[in-house]
Amino acid sequence: MAIDTHCHLNDERYDDVNEVIASLTSNNITNGVVIGYNMETSISAMKLADENEILYSVIGFHPGNIHEIKDGDMEKLEALAVNKKVVAIGEIGLDYHYEPYDKDAQKRVFIHQLNIAKRTGLPVVIHQRDCGMDLLAILKEHYKELSGIIMHCFSESTEMAEEFIKMGCYISFAGPLTFKNSKSLPDVAKMTPKELILSETDCPYLTPHPHRGKRNEPKYVSLVVEKLAELREVTYEEMEKQIEENAKKVFFKMK
Ligand code: NI
Repeated sequence: MAIDTHCHLNDERYDDVNEVIASLTSNNITNGVVIGYNMETSISAMKLADENEILYSVIGFHPGNIHEIKDGDMEKLEALAVNKKVVAIGEIGLDYHYEPYDKDAQKRVFIHQLNIAKRTGLPVVIHQRDCGMDLLAILKEHYKELSGIIMHCFSESTEMAEEFIKMGCYISFAGPLTFKNSKSLPDVAKMTPKELILSETDCPYLTPHPHRGKRNEPKYVSLVVEKLAELREVTYEEMEKQIEENAKKVFFKMK
């Protein structure tokens, strides 16, 4: 069994979403967390979670989508967050990869959504890319008041990992851990305390080895769990069980 704590089954590439969802259980996926990145995909994530018992949703504005925010959207997001199957605010954060970007606007929206998470008692799912120390600085200011922080698809250095671990952040591993050029990720996988490890696919992106090039699906999360188990020298079952416990603690606690 395995849990995919970060999937975009609400992506348009899943024109067969019902079949993909129907196949989750037979592919040993116990739960999936569907992630929004703007208002439309947050609402579609919630719809999938409402219709499917094993799915949950995460709602919010990704830093690359903040230009889509309309008047009243932040209030709407906060109102939606009370839904029983909304388990976090995300994916939110900073991304200075694609020009043009507005650092100040990204920080403002990020902090606003951190505050929504605090007020609603929900954890946050964090996206970060090429944002240097900015994200770390903001989280250092806010982490004590948040109920949980999940570093989604972690791909930073061991030094950065150490900083996040110190704040009790969950480190969520995805397909890149299975890539041959996975750089410092195997070391991060070994150094992360077991109670802070999560597994995800970030599907439809980042398909794990040996399926690279194919569309990613939640079922491939088992390849990430397998790699984690191998690196940490535990059995697949032990690794899976630990991740399930962690996911329950941070995401699936009863509202
Ligand atoms: Ni994502």
